[in-house]
Amino acid sequence: MFRIPTRIQFGRGVALTLAEPLRQVGAKKVLVVTDLGVMKAGLVAPLEEKLREAKIPYEIYDQVMPDPGVAEVQRAYERAKEVGADSFVAVGGGSSIDTAKMAAVLLANGGTVLDYVGIDKVPKMAAPVVAIPTTAGTGAEITINSVIADPDQHKKLVIISPNATALFALEDPELTTGLPPFLTAITGMDTLVHAIESFTSKNAYRMTEVLALEAIRDAAWALPRAVKDGTDIDAREAMMRAVVAASLAFSNTRLGNVHAMALPLGGWCHVAHGTAVAALLPHVMDFNRSAAPDRYATVGETMGAKKDATAAVEHIFRLNETIGIPAHLGPVGMEEALIPNMATDAMLSGNILVNPRTTAQPDIEALYKAAL
Ligand SMILES: [Fe+2]
Repeated sequence: MFRIPTRIQFGRGVALTLAEPLRQVGAKKVLVVTDLGVMKAGLVAPLEEKLREAKIPYEIYDQVMPDPGVAEVQRAYERAKEVGADSFVAVGGGSSIDTAKMAAVLLANGGTVLDYVGIDKVPKMAAPVVAIPTTAGTGAEITINSVIADPDQHKKLVIISPNATALFALEDPELTTGLPPFLTAITGMDTLVHAIESFTSKNAYRMTEVLALEAIRDAAWALPRAVKDGTDIDAREAMMRAVVAASLAFSNTRLGNVHAMALPLGGWCHVAHGTAVAALLPHVMDFNRSAAPDRYATVGETMGAKKDATAAVEHIFRLNETIGIPAHLGPVGMEEALIPNMATDAMLSGNILVNPRTTAQPDIEALYKAAL
């Protein structure tokens, strides 16, 4: 089965059409969910103008924090109830979009985030969300996954359901041109990791493979250019195209060891998701390549390296260096003493099961050590 629950609009300027999807769903009151950085960058004001022109009443909730937790989602949901919102516009990165997706789930279903953790636990379709990403990106605007922190358990909770998605995604590369180089690098690497893990997943099939390869091809040339010059709109557009293709692919395959390991790194050590996946990727590829040498050779060739699995691994090490990703995670917060706890949590991830090479807990511990 190939699922795409979200209606996707792509192109320069499409963010400004946000009133159309809201009209389609008969929105009477909208909560705009965003963060202060995005507000300060001036990305929300032009959207507000379009809402006013369309006479769609709205309120702004700009208190989204990075790594939103169960309590933060609850706060956004309560704000939505307070102002009588029946729909959401999310403007920002994965944190704002996931907050809005889950607040919309609560608006339609009641309860708390904890009620919906796992696969297909959301009974009713979430309230309408129009997601407008300002990074390229996590793909949160398209995927059926949301990641919400549970600080009490040092966990990142994953909610996977076609009912917990944004109904509309407006993929506008012009909103990403102001993103600083390091954020461009780590969010872009998340996309490349999604594509590579989907392509090499045990669940991959022809339809997901073509999408994943296109994402790898675009991200490989466009990411270094977007990091070097944020205003390079062709590179920004290619990165956003890569996000769409990679998200469609991995929503239908799941991921692999990199993502199984990255969530505990966020939960226990607060390493940013993009930094974690980027630094882990070459180590996991090196571990996996014996199980799927042809797959990784194709990955290498698609990135413009030699058609060889080892060349693919080396290419990623070099790419990370070029775009300023730290080679080691110790200096950015990973603690060696927590490796056993993180490995235990990583082994519970469904992504381990679809990783191309069968993986046991000592393998995961060794991979964490390699990236330390
Ligand atoms: Fe990711």
